[in-house]
Amino acid sequence: MLAPMISWGQEYSRSGADSCMLCHGEGSQQPATAIFHTKHASQSDSKTPFSDLQCETCHGPSKEHARAQRRGRDGKPPVTFGFNAQTPAAEQNQVCLSCHASRGRLAWFGSAHEREDVSCASCHQVHAKRDRVFDSLAQMQTCFTCHPKKRSDMYKFSSHPLRFGSMACSDCHNPHDGNNDFLLQRSTVNLTCYICHAEKRGPFLWEHAPAAEDCTLCHQPHGSNHPSLLVKRPPLLCQQCHAPAGHPSVAYTSEEIDNNFNNRFLLGRSCLNCHSQVHGSNHPSGAKLNR
Ligand code: HEC
Ligand code: HEC
Ligand code: HEC
Ligand code: HEC
Ligand code: HEC
Ligand code: HEC
Ligand code: HEC
Ligand code: HEC
Ligand code: HEC
Ligand code: HEC
Repeated sequence: MLAPMISWGQEYSRSGADSCMLCHGEGSQQPATAIFHTKHASQSDSKTPFSDLQCETCHGPSKEHARAQRRGRDGKPPVTFGFNAQTPAAEQNQVCLSCHASRGRLAWFGSAHEREDVSCASCHQVHAKRDRVFDSLAQMQTCFTCHPKKRSDMYKFSSHPLRFGSMACSDCHNPHDGNNDFLLQRSTVNLTCYICHAEKRGPFLWEHAPAAEDCTLCHQPHGSNHPSLLVKRPPLLCQQCHAPAGHPSVAYTSEEIDNNFNNRFLLGRSCLNCHSQVHGSNHPSGAKLNR
């Protein structure tokens, strides 16, 4: 027996899902038949809710609910799910975790989502043929309901291609894993970026310290109005750390080029006109990251 983890002091209905289908079948006001198309209803897997107490594995003993409804009285099952449900999030989640505490959810406890009482069901849809979290675009919309600022980031001039559905929030984040800062997929920001940008990992003959340390010193992973997801444009980007004294990087200088007060330290790609290997260089004389 898998359930019950929690004792509700109520009775289970005698004929399981069949007794629910009377009112939750196809065409009813609250149909619950889509679940039969999901892994939870798999007949061949002995670990699913349907191999046990069926609907009531998750919703708890619901005989009383069915009886009350038959008599036209109010009455809910002991466990209801979702954002606005009566059942507290921790209790809802305990039901899911009774089977899903392993694998990716070992560090659910202590994660930002657990601490803030986010329920499994505020992201997951159990009663859908396909849970929206497995579809990149639908997953992103789900995250936006609570993280609205990320929506505007994703539509900025420069962003990762999430809005085209070719990447998902879950490529960088594991929403269940409290082991890593910011629920990241890997233990540091850089290790997360290297999943896809392996060439930035090096090793480099001439390392650029900030690139080895933390990509977000220069990049905004979610979206930016500057090219290449930069937090600022050069020269300002570089001058956060490098004093402008070495190079004359002010708009008007005595340096005249082509009869114009063009400034090669500012125009075009600015500092990158010369220091193009800003992530590190493997050229024997690339110490100044310029080749
Ligand atoms: C006689 C009809 C009837 C039977 C039988 C019945 N239900 Fe319901 N159920 C309802 C109605 C009507 C509602 C909507 C109640 C409401 O909105 O207050 C409902 C609501 C629910 C809800 C949603 C509660 C919420 O607020 O989110 C769940 C879950 C549920 N039923 C599970 C079950 C399960 C499990 C069974 C079988 C053990 C079952 N029901 C049997 C009529 C029935
Ligand atoms: C794996 C756990 C699980 C099982 C098994 C399960 N439910 Fe649910 N039920 C949920 C969750 C979670 C929700 C919240 C909505 C969602 O996730 O789609 C829910 C919502 C509901 C609702 C509210 C209407 C709605 O769609 O929001 C009804 C009614 C319901 N379930 C009835 C049933 C019936 C009847 C069965 C058996 C055929 C059943 N449930 C089996 C977890 C489960
Ligand atoms: C009685 C055990 C049990 C309970 C309770 C349970 N699940 Fe599952 N769940 C399973 C099994 C078994 C599978 C299929 C095997 C797998 O993919 O791990 C599964 C699969 C899933 C999947 C993957 C579906 C897919 O298509 O790959 C998700 C997501 C999921 N469950 C979420 C939930 C949520 C959310 C709850 C609580 C509302 C819940 N489960 C409650 C046993 C359970
Ligand atoms: C903040 C949103 C969110 C919450 C809250 C959440 N999940 Fe998930 N879950 C996801 C996303 C997104 C994926 C898909 C990850 C992927 O594509 O690899 C997922 C995948 C899963 C899977 C299938 C893949 C796997 O890791 O085995 C299971 C099972 C699952 N979640 C269970 C749960 C349970 C149980 C809870 C509550 C304790 C929960 N989830 C809470 C977003 C969430
Ligand atoms: C039901 C609301 C809700 C949903 C849906 C939701 N989150 Fe969250 N999330 C929160 C809350 C609340 C916090 C904690 C406060 C904060 O940092 O904003 C949080 C925090 C986070 C954090 C920061 C963690 C930290 O350690 O600082 C990340 C990353 C995150 N969520 C990613 C996601 C992703 C990815 C999704 C979609 C798969 C998602 N969230 C869906 C409510 C939600
Ligand atoms: C390319 C990788 C990547 C993708 C894709 C990504 N994130 Fe993040 N996210 C990060 C990194 C790295 C951090 C921590 C450092 C930072 O914010 O600069 C973070 C931090 C967060 C935080 C907490 C701090 C903050 O900025 O509020 C939230 C919430 C968050 N992400 C939500 C999301 C959501 C929602 C999505 C999908 C729409 C998403 N992220 C997609 C890499 C990513
Ligand atoms: C799941 C794979 C993946 C991960 C993880 C990832 N990226 Fe990306 N990144 C991409 C893809 C795909 C593109 C788009 C490439 C293109 O448009 O040709 C991209 C593009 C970029 C760009 C160039 C954007 C532009 O507008 O030209 C930057 C900068 C970048 N990523 C930084 C990061 C950082 C920093 C991290 C870690 C926080 C990270 N990426 C993690 C896949 C990833
Ligand atoms: C010192 C600032 C800085 C740091 C730190 C940094 N970058 Fe960049 N990155 C840039 C600049 C500037 C550009 C634009 C280059 C150009 O226009 O040629 C760029 C461009 C990119 C691009 C797109 C063009 C390309 O070269 O593929 C990717 C991807 C990228 N960075 C990933 C990363 C990753 C991953 C990290 C962390 C390992 C990182 N960056 C750390 C400054 C930085
Ligand atoms: C977050 C701080 C930071 C940012 C932003 C930054 N750098 Fe650096 N940079 C460093 C540090 C630290 C070193 C290593 C200095 C040392 O070893 O003495 C370094 C080294 C260098 C060197 C080699 C200097 C030498 O003496 O060998 C060059 C060239 C350079 N950076 C150019 C740039 C350019 C161009 C940008 C903008 C695209 C930039 N840096 C942005 C921190 C930064
Ligand atoms: C026209 C080419 C050019 C441009 C543009 C340029 N640099 Fe340089 N930079 C160099 C050269 C060449 C050196 C090496 C000087 C030496 O070895 O004495 C250098 C050296 C440096 C050093 C190492 C410290 C030093 O003074 O030797 C830093 C840091 C640096 N540049 C930062 C920047 C920043 C920040 C910008 C943008 C404001 C920038 N550079 C724009 C050519 C350039």
